[in-house]
Amino acid sequence: MLGARGLLRGLRACSSAPRPRRALPARLSVLAALGAAGGERIKVQGWIRSVRSQKEVLFLHVNDGSSLESLQVVADSSLDNGELTFGSSVEVQGQLVQSPSRMQNVELKAEKIEVVGNCDAKESGFVHIHTPIITSNDCEGAGEIFQIEPSSKINGSDENFFNVPAFLTVSGQLHLEVMSGAFTQVFTFGPTFRAENSQSRRHLAEFYMVEAEISFVENLQDIMQVMEGLFKTATMTVLSNCPEDVELCHKFIAPGQKDRLDHMLKNNFLIISYTEAIEILKKASQNFTFTPEWGADLHTEHEKYLVKHCGNVPVFVINYPLTLKPFYMRDNEDGPQHTVAAVDLLVPGVGELFGGSLREERYHFLEQQLARLGLTEVYQWYLDLRQFGSVPHGGFGMGFERYLQCILGVDNIKDVIPFPRFPHSCLL
Ligand code: 4AD
Ligand code: MG
Repeated sequence: MLGARGLLRGLRACSSAPRPRRALPARLSVLAALGAAGGERIKVQGWIRSVRSQKEVLFLHVNDGSSLESLQVVADSSLDNGELTFGSSVEVQGQLVQSPSRMQNVELKAEKIEVVGNCDAKESGFVHIHTPIITSNDCEGAGEIFQIEPSSKINGSDENFFNVPAFLTVSGQLHLEVMSGAFTQVFTFGPTFRAENSQSRRHLAEFYMVEAEISFVENLQDIMQVMEGLFKTATMTVLSNCPEDVELCHKFIAPGQKDRLDHMLKNNFLIISYTEAIEILKKASQNFTFTPEWGADLHTEHEKYLVKHCGNVPVFVINYPLTLKPFYMRDNEDGPQHTVAAVDLLVPGVGELFGGSLREERYHFLEQQLARLGLTEVYQWYLDLRQFGSVPHGGFGMGFERYLQCILGVDNIKDVIPFPRFPHSCLL
């Protein structure tokens, strides 16, 4: 510790220190820098909007939000330490010089570039997108949507506030798909709403979801790897950052949960197909409320049985019947039992924790699928994405409250959220 005396000594040393001969460069906003005269030595702080690296010269565009225009920074390529990427926050020190381009008055000739921080994109490869809560799509197509209108209109005019019916989002996926046309890996984390009339221990009307979308993936394996990585990394981070909280939960709510969790973390997750899952369920000695049948949805009782059958290790179930899944999933073209490249991750105690898929990127397949469901008009924009440079891509969503249930060993989802919303209950 420095202590008061040390601090005083430090302060005195500061006040008596000789002034640097050259005045420190003034910190300017990008807006001020763009309007300044050449010759001035300045410092600018902002975020990198573009990087163009040539053999000997490096060009950056830096923006700090003060102007729509970014400041062009020109630097010797030796200043590029490999950390300068889109979104990195930087401090650039240098001299303003007349710009040779007609577009701008000045550009900043950098002497020093310091990376202050890198956005999530640098650390994890994923860019965080804020997807909207109000949307005009029902991504999952299940009709479990809350429609929104101003309260004044509910009994009055039949005109929609947004001109089209609008809903609280059931998923940010379609918006992420739009963004994945520019960024190869994107994610969102936000509130999600489902008007499911379910009183179950794992359903809420309002819950949080982490969703990721990855471009240039052509098989489910790549998606499953990210899902398993997310589950394991997040869990290890929680265990090491707040062990006391987790221990307290385990001690009073779920004794033995730490061992069950370690078992999940130590083992590779398993993979079975939907068809195999149905075979396993049909052979089970257990009597299910819903008889397992190829083509029928898996219920919680089935999912929990499958996880137990697999030794209480999370299990990926892949390739579900086309008729069970939403329009956007990629057709496996595998008749007569027609399936899509879907993946659900089932975990002990909860059942489905993640849902994901490869997306149908082929124009004609998607066109047919939308026509079959009568959705062509509504999703014309989505179809258009496939026409203008779409690439194979896929992604997933993980319910955050279900994740907490799983790691903490909480049986009822309403106990991991302070204000649970479910049918017939919206307290406060
Ligand atoms: O399987 P779902 O419906 O998948 C999607 O929404 C995809 N669009 C995600 C994507 O690919 N980007 O939902 C994903 C997860 C489920 O696996 C579950 O964990 C959680 O969201 N979830 C719920 N959690 C609590 N209450 C509900 N009513 C939930 N519905 C889904
Ligand atoms: Mg699902």
